[in-house]
Amino acid sequence: ESPLQKFTDGNAIPQLGYGVWQVEDDVAEKVVAAAFKAGYRHIDTAMIYGNEAGVGRAIAASGLPREELFITTKLWNGDQGYEETLAAFDASLERLGLDYVDLYLIHWLTPKAGKYVETWKALVELQKSGRVKSIGVSNFTVETLREIEEATGVVPAIHQVETHPYFPQAELREYEAAKGIVHESWSPLGNNSDLLGESALAAVAEKHGATPAQAVIAWHLAKGNVVIPKSVTPERIVQNWESLGVTLDADDIAAIDALDKGAEGRIGGDPAEADYR
Ligand code: A2P
Repeated sequence: ESPLQKFTDGNAIPQLGYGVWQVEDDVAEKVVAAAFKAGYRHIDTAMIYGNEAGVGRAIAASGLPREELFITTKLWNGDQGYEETLAAFDASLERLGLDYVDLYLIHWLTPKAGKYVETWKALVELQKSGRVKSIGVSNFTVETLREIEEATGVVPAIHQVETHPYFPQAELREYEAAKGIVHESWSPLGNNSDLLGESALAAVAEKHGATPAQAVIAWHLAKGNVVIPKSVTPERIVQNWESLGVTLDADDIAAIDALDKGAEGRIGGDPAEADYR
């Protein structure tokens, strides 16, 4: 069983989850079933992944009690705006075949559209309706986290953003910690960069009889990050889950911390700039 991270709204999220970015709908159904079998109960999808329906079919087929699951989906950029958000949420819920989701996130800040404050107000409304247990954001900045709080008085439960040893997000994590915002890592394994081939990682992994991917996941867990490694490979789905059995010491964490590349370490888009439609 995964440890939990507590939200300021009273709910909690399993710290190790399973992400399905870049997984086709029919494949999602199979790999989510494999993830449930491995032990995962927290699944992270998004409207733009195009696999909410496949995730929903896997949930229905699992026979697992709904309250044991933690399901996240996200509002796509083109659906930002108050009314648009309410409508997009209904459509996501319907594709998932659920009557509530555990967590709904604004997928990207999308600064040029200038709609993230009204969009956040819609999420606050959705949480009040009970069809979303917790609300958060993805790919925001310290400044805009502050801005949506100031506009509504509501602090996001969680912030999901690119985070891995090459790009550990120290400054952002400090702000979040002060606000009680849980930090969630996307592309936690560095998304097929050179990360998993680093010799420093091999050394930590070997010391624990683990793989480099397990060492990285254990590093996220030790930092308190919620982590959602993606894999469509059955052995890796299990291997990543078994990272829960790897406990790093302070030396291991320092060795992995030393892989930080600063601004150069970013692999995906910069939230302050990205305007994907
Ligand atoms: P695959 O899905 O083919 O198994 P991230 O979560 O950082 O974006 O990384 C996802 C990538 O890492 C995917 O391409 C996935 O490949 C690969 N991956 C996932 N788990 C492991 C693992 N345990 N060892 C090596 N590569 C992995």
